[in-house]
Amino acid sequence: MALQISPSILTADFARLADELDRISDADWAHVDVMDNHFVPNLTLGVPVVESLVKASPIPIDTHLMIEDADRWAPAYAEAGARSVTFHAEAAKAPIRLARELRALGVRAGIALRPATPVEPYLDLLAEFDMILIMTVEPGFGGQKFLDACLPKVRRTREAIRSTGLDVWVQVDGGVSAETIGRCADAGADVFVAGSAVYGADDAAAAVDELRQLAARHGSCG
Ligand code: DX5
Ligand code: ZN
Repeated sequence: MALQISPSILTADFARLADELDRISDADWAHVDVMDNHFVPNLTLGVPVVESLVKASPIPIDTHLMIEDADRWAPAYAEAGARSVTFHAEAAKAPIRLARELRALGVRAGIALRPATPVEPYLDLLAEFDMILIMTVEPGFGGQKFLDACLPKVRRTREAIRSTGLDVWVQVDGGVSAETIGRCADAGADVFVAGSAVYGADDAAAAVDELRQLAARHGSCG
């Protein structure tokens, strides 16, 4: 599959989200970080805002749920109109049941792993998911330094997916920038979340374009 860019609106202006989505109209997705102040020490937005974003923009919404009790709350984001719902492995009691429920609601089901969470327990379950999100910072905040230590996990995930022949996407999130995106692509990521690298730029659309070109220059996923 082709590589995709999913700018995170976490560093956008929350008072003008519809306009902020317009700034990234060439992106493949808009990445929406849902934080509950329990799973991570930060609080952002919930279902009503996702519903409004879906109405405000044609760009598909890629929700990243950094919330506890994902089993209970994640389906509401599918019902709100998100096209992709990613929950954290550490926050789901029954990830297979939850992923199946999300798929039954017609959305892509993703599972996210914090930097210290190994991917190996999930490698036998790849068929249950549409995307594996490998965090490349500790979740909770934008603007953190990229953790190169997470790249071997990206590589192992991509190799495992390749050996199954499944079409599972590998998303990286955290510290992805013009400086780091090539290493992510080399490791086998194909969906790139970038918050401050896009919304911190004067021209967000140009930043998306630049990231896309840099990733395409690397990349083994083809
Ligand atoms: C962090 C979020 C990220 C964040 C990335 O917990 O999941 O999506 O917005 O921001 P940058 O790209 O600035 O690291
Ligand atoms: Zn995120």
